[in-house]
Amino acid sequence: MSRTILVTGGAGFIGSHYIRYLLTHHRDIQVINADALRYSANLRNLDDVAGDSRYRFKQVDLSRQEEVERLFAHRINEVVHFAAESHVDRSIQGAEPFIQSNLIGTYRLLETIRQSSTVKRMIHISTDEVYGSICQGRTAEGASLKPGNPYSASKASSDLLCLAYANTYGLPVVITRCTNNYGPNQHPEKFIPKMIFHALRDRPLPLYGDGQQERDWLYVTDHCAAVDRVREHGRVGEVYHIGAEQTIPNREIAGRILDLLGKPTTLIQTAPDRPGHDFRYSLQTEKLRRELGWMPVVSLEQGLSKTIRWYQAQTDWQQGFGQPPGGTSL
Ligand SMILES: NC(=O)c1ccc[n+]([C@@H]2O[C@H](COP(=O)([O-])OP(=O)(O)OC[C@H]3O[C@@H](n4cnc5c(N)ncnc54)[C@H](O)[C@@H]3O)[C@@H](O)[C@H]2O)c1
Repeated sequence: MSRTILVTGGAGFIGSHYIRYLLTHHRDIQVINADALRYSANLRNLDDVAGDSRYRFKQVDLSRQEEVERLFAHRINEVVHFAAESHVDRSIQGAEPFIQSNLIGTYRLLETIRQSSTVKRMIHISTDEVYGSICQGRTAEGASLKPGNPYSASKASSDLLCLAYANTYGLPVVITRCTNNYGPNQHPEKFIPKMIFHALRDRPLPLYGDGQQERDWLYVTDHCAAVDRVREHGRVGEVYHIGAEQTIPNREIAGRILDLLGKPTTLIQTAPDRPGHDFRYSLQTEKLRRELGWMPVVSLEQGLSKTIRWYQAQTDWQQGFGQPPGGTSL
């Protein structure tokens, strides 16, 4: 009998790529995509797989117990948990949806899995942001968590809950923490799509502060391949880091985008900095590379070119997004 893999948050940026990855790389599986269809969700991200008989979509808010219970009336064998509120600036404006989705949503999922006799594995998708900012070097998996904003605090809280459920109840949970992702399908409020959108329209590129903040950018399909290795071979109760091990200042990313589009760097403009803006995140990824043989295959140059070409080709993709309370941020 084929396995059923529940992907939460599959209408979002990374989750939609992961569903495509699963359906492309595994024949004998069923995929259920459970997503609340919040403002960053876009079912058009999955247009090409929507007709696949192995794929089903369920609109589910994970913070609602009865909806989670209904979802688990389906026989589910594995869970890959991407669903989250994911934008730092929005968490600074109001943390409530982050606590609801990221912490309560994860708690409801864990509790339901605890009652389930069929779920044999859960992968909890987390982020490098849980460690807070580091001036230099790379953070290892055992480092203490020091989140610097409500988003990362809600993710760190959900990570700790997962580890506690693994320890206390023996839940088969594995955590991945990845660095910044980029690629097609990402909501235009995020850094790289925002820079591309503005550059394509010859509008000033708003860069927070001096733009010297550093991030380690990973192309989204490399992230998906890593998550799938961890799903298949990762050790229960462990944390695995995922990243390219190459930190780059935001200003340089904006410059490269302009360069690839043949536009002048004078389009870069300073915007007021984000409160409490973390200066730098960087992860050590040796454990994943050594234990599970994963390596990123898309270089930053290739990835940026592919991403720009994809955004250039879109006409009405944006119409597929849910609306945030109070209107769109585009
Ligand atoms: N984007 C990155 O650079 C990055 C890096 C590392 C880790 N992550 C993690 O990866 C995951 C996915 O990030 P993304 O960038 O694809 O985010 P996204 O905002 O594009 O997608 C998140 C999805 O989760 C859904 N969702 C939110 N709350 C929900 C709820 N209560 N119930 C059901 N669905 C809900 C949304 O509707 C959306 O489709 C998140 O857990 C994030 O913390 C992201």
